[in-house]
Amino acid sequence: MSKNYNLAVLPGDFIGPEVIDATIEVLEAIAPQYDLNFNYTRLPFGGNALDKHGHPLPEETKEACAQSDAVLMGSAGGPVGDHPWNKVARELRVESGILGIRKHLGLYANLRPVKVFDGLEHLSPLKSEVAKGTDLLIIRELTGGIYFGKPSFVEQDKGVSTMIYERYEVERIARTAFESAVLRGGKVTNVDKSNVLDVSQFWRDVVVGIHESEFSSVELEHLYVDNAAMQIAANPKQFDTVVTGNLFGDILSDLAAVIPGSLGVLPSASLGGSVGLFEPVHGSAPDIAGQGIANPVGTLLSAAMMLRFGLKEVEVADAIEHAVQAALAEDPTKDLGGSRGTAAFTEAVKKALPLTITA
Ligand code: NAD
Ligand code: IPM
Ligand code: MN
Repeated sequence: MSKNYNLAVLPGDFIGPEVIDATIEVLEAIAPQYDLNFNYTRLPFGGNALDKHGHPLPEETKEACAQSDAVLMGSAGGPVGDHPWNKVARELRVESGILGIRKHLGLYANLRPVKVFDGLEHLSPLKSEVAKGTDLLIIRELTGGIYFGKPSFVEQDKGVSTMIYERYEVERIARTAFESAVLRGGKVTNVDKSNVLDVSQFWRDVVVGIHESEFSSVELEHLYVDNAAMQIAANPKQFDTVVTGNLFGDILSDLAAVIPGSLGVLPSASLGGSVGLFEPVHGSAPDIAGQGIANPVGTLLSAAMMLRFGLKEVEVADAIEHAVQAALAEDPTKDLGGSRGTAAFTEAVKKALPLTITA
């Protein structure tokens, strides 16, 4: 009897549906090998949902996600600058829909691994010896901080956002980081701005408290976020597990994408609720949409994280990761200096999947 999984699929806008289609192709290629059966429910989400349903995150989508076994997301949003989707009220913005689904599902822990696969360090714009061996995990707090703090408003002569962290929010993300570090390299780097911000001083005190009372065997160091940005670019190998707040984690993860060579390759898993959400770190890339050149690796590796952390199908996750790695080694996508577009790369991943005979 094959195992059934109900996946809520949120393709989103621009390259979102392109990378999602590529990923579903790969999932469909591997499913029979492991006797799995995926049911995909494609749901309206993003700018297309705003146009069609008047909201970027329709109720139907929220409910279907909450009832699914896992949520697989592409990316949503319009071009930066002058576009109708950027002119609506804040609560109707596509970005508010993205925050809305994370909050609705209680996904406070965003895991963003940054790994340079062995033999693929030449794809980095950094010197090979700097990029080689990079294997760090950014743990970004995802449902608090300045993204959600009140008051938040725009007036004629004033714009206000508020950064707040409550004790329980810092404690739970700190535990996620220490627990991850125990399974990885045993070291956590806490990144904050406690030299300037009271909210960061509080954050650091709480992280130190959890460390002392529950995880004293894990190594803990602290960096201010400005220095952390420089250190990530200059010497990424020094990092194992990095824990930080919502805004700092957003910025540092795009920066860290430079190490493996493209924003297109970074995956993420958002955890902490009853259903996990898995999406690439990149956005909807309107500048390259429709050209058949979107890199599907970030979404493919997000699907691998879905299999590993969400569905506990670890072998299948490993198989996808190995196939992606093999396809990258042969000839990567154009953003990485290779010659393949989305379709050719996806074909190569399918060919590299293991052939397992199941009884
Ligand atoms: P972006 O990540 O969409 O693009 C940044 C740059 O990276 C562009 O040059 C783009 O071509 C390139 N790029 C991104 N993904 C790629 C891929 N898979 N393959 C090849 N190249 C890729 O960032 P942006 O331009 O600042 O944002 C565009 C829209 O996406 C905005 O509306 C933004 O709010 C939204 N966004 C959505 C998400 C999400 O859905 N989770 C994440 C980030 C940004
Ligand atoms: C990301 C994105 C989102 C964020 C935006 C588009 C809401 O940049 O997932 O990294 O800031 O969290
Ligand atoms: Mn981002």
